Amino acid sequence: MSHARSTSSVAPEQVDLRCRFGATPLPHPVMTASGCFAYGQQFAAFMDVGKLAGVSTKGISPLPRYGNPLPRICETASGMLNSIGLENVGAESFLRDKLPFLADLGISVWVNFFGEDMDSYVRCAEMLEAGRDRGIDVLEMNISCPNIKKGGIEFGTVPRVAHTLTKRCVEATGIPIVVKLSPNAADLPAMAQAVRDAGAYGVSLINTITGMAIDVRSRRPRIATTYGGLSGPAIKPIALRMVHQVHRALPDLPICGMGGILSGEDALEFLMAGASCVQVGTANFARPDIGLTIVDELRKIMAELGITTIAEAVGSLRPVEPEEPSSWS
Ligand code: SIN
Repeated sequence: MSHARSTSSVAPEQVDLRCRFGATPLPHPVMTASGCFAYGQQFAAFMDVGKLAGVSTKGISPLPRYGNPLPRICETASGMLNSIGLENVGAESFLRDKLPFLADLGISVWVNFFGEDMDSYVRCAEMLEAGRDRGIDVLEMNISCPNIKKGGIEFGTVPRVAHTLTKRCVEATGIPIVVKLSPNAADLPAMAQAVRDAGAYGVSLINTITGMAIDVRSRRPRIATTYGGLSGPAIKPIALRMVHQVHRALPDLPICGMGGILSGEDALEFLMAGASCVQVGTANFARPDIGLTIVDELRKIMAELGITTIAEAVGSLRPVEPEEPSSWS
């Protein structure tokens, strides 16, 4: 078995973390994920938010929403189950009260958005268009929330429907649209192809995977809606597989990868699988400043492996070298 490296280590200062998501330059590939970083401002008490490559906001709808009943979050083995129900302040308040803080940071501002039906998705894109010259860089269209009764399942699982929705939203705004795909889709490359053909700038993947947890003492589900979205390290191997499948099918499509990233090495795995940048989600609940630690760790692991640019890492997965079968005799 040979695991010899073909490159030798370099000093961390020799690693250039600058990268691109499509045509958009980023200082490094680490952002924070929607629903795990609120609107950014709350995290300023813990870190210099302006040192992240970008922030994806909590999903925004045309009108404010209160979300699902409590309890709506619980811890699971290596993960977290949530059913927030897309609580948010609504597009108008977001533009007025939340966007200025993010815009002032000078980082990439991705506004995650959704609707309850096709018309309200389009309405939301039209409303957020007002933020184009006020700091919004990307609209991340969420067609993958498992926690609401309306506006979910067929947008995220039927390529033809996702295509129509993406096309209508792309036509409604001049802001690039990145579509956040559902891991619950049967054929993710087909979904990615459908939204790309409709004009999507790129894709984010993955959102949470539907799951449940039971309190055996009370015999009740641990969250009020019974089912919720599983996130965290428990889903990382699934997320990596999906990023890899989409990248292999559509190597030129920019992918923002996420799902259980806790370390620089995790981030590098996503880059090697084909992501151009990554988002850190659930880990922020335990360590609000973990995104910046991951940037440092990414630099160190790349230096150790002699990888000096992000471009060298993206999609650089090699085939497995088959091992000799061991002998039982
Ligand atoms: C939620 O607010 O229920 C989670 C959002 C999502 O999974 O898209």
